[in-house]
Amino acid sequence: MSHNKLTYHVNTYNRFPVEFIKGNGAYLFDKEDNKYLDFLSGIAVTGFGHNKPELVNAAKNQIENLWHVSNLFESSPQEELGKKLTNISKLDKVFFCNSGTEANEAAIKFARKWGNGRSTIIAAEGSFHGRTFGSLSASMQKKLWNGFEPLTPGFVSVPYNNIDAIKNKIDESTAAIMLEPIQGESGIIIPDDNYLQGVRKICNDNNILMIVDEIQTGMGRTGKFFAYQHPDILPDIITIAKGIANGIPLGATICSDKVASAITPGNHGSTFGGNPVAVAIANNVVDLLTGQTLNNINEISNYLKEQLQTSNFTSIKEIRNKGLMFGLELDKKIDAKEIASALLKNKIIVGTAGNNVLRLLPPFIITKEQVDFFIETLKIVLK
Ligand SMILES: Cc1ncc(COP(=O)(O)O)c(C=O)c1O
Repeated sequence: MSHNKLTYHVNTYNRFPVEFIKGNGAYLFDKEDNKYLDFLSGIAVTGFGHNKPELVNAAKNQIENLWHVSNLFESSPQEELGKKLTNISKLDKVFFCNSGTEANEAAIKFARKWGNGRSTIIAAEGSFHGRTFGSLSASMQKKLWNGFEPLTPGFVSVPYNNIDAIKNKIDESTAAIMLEPIQGESGIIIPDDNYLQGVRKICNDNNILMIVDEIQTGMGRTGKFFAYQHPDILPDIITIAKGIANGIPLGATICSDKVASAITPGNHGSTFGGNPVAVAIANNVVDLLTGQTLNNINEISNYLKEQLQTSNFTSIKEIRNKGLMFGLELDKKIDAKEIASALLKNKIIVGTAGNNVLRLLPPFIITKEQVDFFIETLKIVLK
């Protein structure tokens, strides 16, 4: 069902022929007021659904007072958010930006500055860290590079979920390892339980930094605030964006004092980074991500998984998930994009990823009834 009605926009997206003009909770509405169940959340962004009153009010209050001020001046809302994020992450300092790729650019720069001459970053095959040159060079998928080389030098790749491969790649130039705790864009690829712990140990043994890209997995998506909290490790740098302000652009690079101490004024910056409106919303998003919310995420995640399993879909080869991040790997004979289009015709929004994987990233507020509606519709579509 994808089409290209692009008159003025550069041809960067294969868009679906639907325009949404309104949102409410887990639903989006088109021009004819048709209601669509949102099982994509703007690709892991609107975790608390659309138009949540607390978040709308936080944005309104802030926008009426002040909507931009330069980062050359003090900011209590940024301090408040920094305090919350460092408390939860158990790291020490935050740099605010506007997107995932920028959060990773900052992480790469901080790691190189800390490396003091050591500049190589090890990244994993199949990774996705963003579209700007540093992040793109760390994204180990040739299809993303086609036509854009030369890339930024100093990035090397290792197979994902393989500790020995990392050991073999480390040399005197290595500054850091950069990883997603679950590879999202590659199709919800979940490593072994002890993988991140193994990487942490290698980083300790070799005095190199561990950078964990939580842009898709962070902010509650996997049922913990950050995905690295499942194996209970502590990275040196983590990057977040997507869900942090529930859809208003904001990103953050959170790091230890050890890393932050390498950075001085003028080393990095952003005109818009940590915008007051985005930060006001994020302060509320973090407050909403309580233990109770995380419990609800895990509960509804279990229910969705159970319903998928007991439905015995013959065309689904594997169900992979952590929290509300689901990848349904389809039989090769079936095209995931066609299934996504068919679901859209039936008023459900899902995504695709990697190699023929249907990607579900529903908002944290979905109900059992909405899961049931999804399952019944999937039954019809997969038939
Ligand atoms: C793991 C990961 N890192 C980085 C990015 C890039 O984020 P952004 O599109 O905000 O630049 C994404 C986006 O999908 C992502 O999933």
